[in-house]
Amino acid sequence: MEQDGAQRLRRLPEALLPWFRENARDLPWRHDREPYHVWLSEIMLQQTRVEAVKRYYLRFLREIPDIARLASADWERVSKLWEGLGYYSRARNLQAAARQIMNEHGGVFPSDYAAIRALKGVGDYTAGAIASICFEQPAPAVDGNVLRVTARLTGDDRSISDAGTKADVRAALAAVYPAGACGAFTQSLMELGALVCLPNGAPDCAACPASAFCASRDGGWRTLPVKAAKPARRREKMTVFHFRCGSFVALRKRPETGLLGGLWEFPNVPGALAPEEAAAQAAAWGVSPAELLRERRRTHIFTHVEWEMCCYYFLCREMPEAFVWFRDAELQERAALPTAFRAFRDG
Ligand code: ADE
Repeated sequence: MEQDGAQRLRRLPEALLPWFRENARDLPWRHDREPYHVWLSEIMLQQTRVEAVKRYYLRFLREIPDIARLASADWERVSKLWEGLGYYSRARNLQAAARQIMNEHGGVFPSDYAAIRALKGVGDYTAGAIASICFEQPAPAVDGNVLRVTARLTGDDRSISDAGTKADVRAALAAVYPAGACGAFTQSLMELGALVCLPNGAPDCAACPASAFCASRDGGWRTLPVKAAKPARRREKMTVFHFRCGSFVALRKRPETGLLGGLWEFPNVPGALAPEEAAAQAAAWGVSPAELLRERRRTHIFTHVEWEMCCYYFLCREMPEAFVWFRDAELQERAALPTAFRAFRDG
């Protein structure tokens, strides 16, 4: 960080902290500093918007109120509570880390940065958030939002996609962390990125407590932050099968690893099958399709891949053991069915 940039950063705590006291949103995970609560919220917030996270966070804590119960919970229950949030490996890692805390730390959330960082699913960002918010350590939590804020504030035109840039920002911020207000400073940076120094368009510089010493206040923000172009998404066609036999519907479990690992899905095959080909596939599985009722198409977008899905709805006579047959209510209450497939449920 250039001298000039370092000076701007040094002025941040004094400007941001009073602003944060006045403008902080009342979010459920800000009601206490219990590490389990902060950790859970940060994991949920990694790839998901604040508004969407709120109800998932509250329901998860109602159902699984402490680390011991998370460690011993059934995966089916944990994944059901995560249903619809996406990036399900977060839930797997969360439970693996809860078990780590039980086994390696006697059930007490560790306060040491290195021990926090060593938990499954916890990277530099999450470790910084927990260490600063729960334990008042000068450990920055640097994500894309914070990188946007610091790039604009300091006029830094290095790519924020480079790990080196991120490491530099982390070190430069750590040097200005205010003793006794580390948690508030971490959250004030997040808040500025969420409410004022917005992505995709004009930041609200008139409302910014740092505008007086910001390198971008005269429009420099238009070209900042600099980041690498996203690689194009792969497109994959998929044929999905909705098999109904009386009040039962067929599901199967996805493999434990990989995209949507360990969750449920409607049976499917790669490629776009014509109706006759789909009927032949159904017969090969032994479901004796009696009638093709209808089809429904939709595209589901993941980070790296796009599924072009066509679902055929069959009434069937047999319930072969290749699949698990769920009653409608049971499917609703028990099976974690990712959004990509949920859209094809009846009704
Ligand atoms: N985004 C990531 N962590 C957050 C937090 N603790 N509060 C609000 N937004 C966030």
